[in-house]
Amino acid sequence: MASIDPHAPPLPHFPHADLLDHGPYGDFRDALKKDGYVVVKGAIPRERALEYRDRLHGWLESFGRGYNRNDPSTFSQAHLPVYSRGGMYNSYGIGQEQAVWDIRLEPGVRKAFETIWGTDKLVSSMDSATIMLPGQPPLPPSLRQWKHVDLSPWRTANNAANFFVAQGLVNLNDNGPDDGGLLVMKGSSELLKQYFEETGRPKYEGGKYDWHTFEEEEMDWFFERGCEWLKVCAEPGDLILWSSHTIHQNCPPRGSRDRVVTYVCQGPAELMTEEDKAVRKRAFEEGYSTSHAPFHGTWLVDRQPIREETGKVDPDYRTHKNPVEKTDAVKRLAGVLPY
Ligand SMILES: [Fe+2]
Repeated sequence: MASIDPHAPPLPHFPHADLLDHGPYGDFRDALKKDGYVVVKGAIPRERALEYRDRLHGWLESFGRGYNRNDPSTFSQAHLPVYSRGGMYNSYGIGQEQAVWDIRLEPGVRKAFETIWGTDKLVSSMDSATIMLPGQPPLPPSLRQWKHVDLSPWRTANNAANFFVAQGLVNLNDNGPDDGGLLVMKGSSELLKQYFEETGRPKYEGGKYDWHTFEEEEMDWFFERGCEWLKVCAEPGDLILWSSHTIHQNCPPRGSRDRVVTYVCQGPAELMTEEDKAVRKRAFEEGYSTSHAPFHGTWLVDRQPIREETGKVDPDYRTHKNPVEKTDAVKRLAGVLPY
C-alpha cells in the first residue's frame, strides 16, 4: 500500500481492491469489469417486479396530496412528496419501507451480489427509490448535467482500488431509450485511476468522501480513450449493476412511461466498520435512508425537503407509511443482527 497523502480522507483500507481482476468468470462479472456496468436479466420475475411498481405508486398516493397514477394532471410536484432531480425520493421513510426491503430480499437480487463477493453473509445499503413521471417540465439547466462517481478519487490512490462496490438499481418498468434512467460512461471504470493520476485529486476538506462530480469538458479525456456515453435500457425485474468507478448520472423520461427503480448495493457484512454499524442501526431504527455503499463510509440521509408552496420543510418528510417488519432475515441484511 502506498503512503497516505496528507490531503486524503481517512479511508479504511479496502481489502478487495482486486475483486474483479481474476476473470474471465463466464458470467455477468466479465461485462461489469470490462464496461463498468451490466444488466443482470430477470433478477426478479417480470410480474412481481410490476407488482413492486404498483406498490411504489401506492406509496406516493398514500401521502394524500392528490397524486393519482391514472390521472396525468396530478403528475406534478404539488401533488407529490418532495423529490429531487426529476423523481428521487430519499426521505419519507422510503429506505425502510416494506416494499423496498422486499426487493432487497429477492433471491435473484441477493444471488447477484453473492456471486460478486463469494459470500451469502451480506448487508444491504438502505438507499432510496426513484419514481419519474412522464410529461413534467424539463429540469433547470443547472440540474441537467451531474456526471459523477459515488466514490472518493482517493480510493483510486492509497488503496489502488480497481474495485470498490457494485452499485445497483432494480428496474421495475419497461425502460427504453426515451424512458429516463441511468446514463453511464461505458469503459470509464477502467480508466478512472489513470485519469486522477494525470489530472490530480481534489484536496479533502472533511465530511463525506465518496462523491465526486465532473465538468462536461472533462468527458473529452474519456471519449479520446474510447469510452461511450449511453443510456442503459432494461425490462421489469432486471438488476442494473455498475462499478462505483463508472461515471454516471440519470435523466428524466422524454416518452410516455413512468420510470420506477430502487437502489440496491450489497456486500460482505464483515466489511462494516463500527461507525458503519452505528449509522446503519440508527437509520434502521429511526426510518432513515443511507448512502449507496453498505460499508466503509456509510452515511445517514437526513434531508429536510422544502415545499415550494410554503417555503417550509414538508411536515410529512419523517412520515413512515409501511415500515418493514423486522424479521431476522431483514435484521441480518440491515447489519443489526450478526450472521
Ligand atoms: Fe450515483
